[in-house]
Amino acid sequence: MTRRPFIAGNWKLNLPPEPAAEVARKLRHLLADRGNVDVAVFPTALSITAVLDCLQGTGIEVGVQEVHPAASGAFTGANSPAMARKIGCTRALVGHSERRQIFGETDRGVNQKVKACLAHGLLPVVCIGETLEQRQADQVDLVVHGQLATALDGLQPDQLSALTLAYEPVWAIGTGQTATPDQAQAVHASIRGWLRAHFPAYVAEEMRIQYGGSVKPANAAELLRCPDIDGALVGGASLDPDSFAGIITAVG
Ligand code: PGA
Repeated sequence: MTRRPFIAGNWKLNLPPEPAAEVARKLRHLLADRGNVDVAVFPTALSITAVLDCLQGTGIEVGVQEVHPAASGAFTGANSPAMARKIGCTRALVGHSERRQIFGETDRGVNQKVKACLAHGLLPVVCIGETLEQRQADQVDLVVHGQLATALDGLQPDQLSALTLAYEPVWAIGTGQTATPDQAQAVHASIRGWLRAHFPAYVAEEMRIQYGGSVKPANAAELLRCPDIDGALVGGASLDPDSFAGIITAVG
């Protein structure tokens, strides 16, 4: 089957409301005739409404970078998945390696957040990936399969169609050191194999698996040509509308 490519921009803690709106306005123009590709941006929470205003009616989706498992309550500083959905976000990043490394996110926490997203109609983009030490110790499959097993624990097969996976080797994020297409394809195939072993066949067939880690216009096409790479989660290069649009047109 052919899976529709999905390119997402993770703006991290960059672009306050007015500059974020400016990038969104440029994307609106640059991506007016994009091909057969899904596109989403993940602004910092404080810029989401400004970006939503600019992208209304374009089909370019807006997501939240982080959610808390609870919809409301005494959780100072947290983002509610229910509120994110209510204001117009359609997706949420869950388990990004920066959340895991800097903020102590655990696989169990990822699982709770995935369930909360699903309960409130947000489509989760679940990030997994190994560190350099884990790769050097030949533990890539062990690590990503373990992250997946806990992240997806307790989900029914038909719930998985709401999910996207993002394989992001930690050593490739923000370093300029992209995984080669062969390295990335090998892990994507291994992830799809794990899904095939644990869920009905259609789940593995339909699941979109993005690659993330120093994706740029110059390397996007060759990565996306790999049979198990269905999109990209783009950090640095998504802050510049021309380069983000260049990635999308390279695959659209
Ligand atoms: P990068 O970030 O493209 O800047 O490497 C990717 C990510 O963190 O999702």
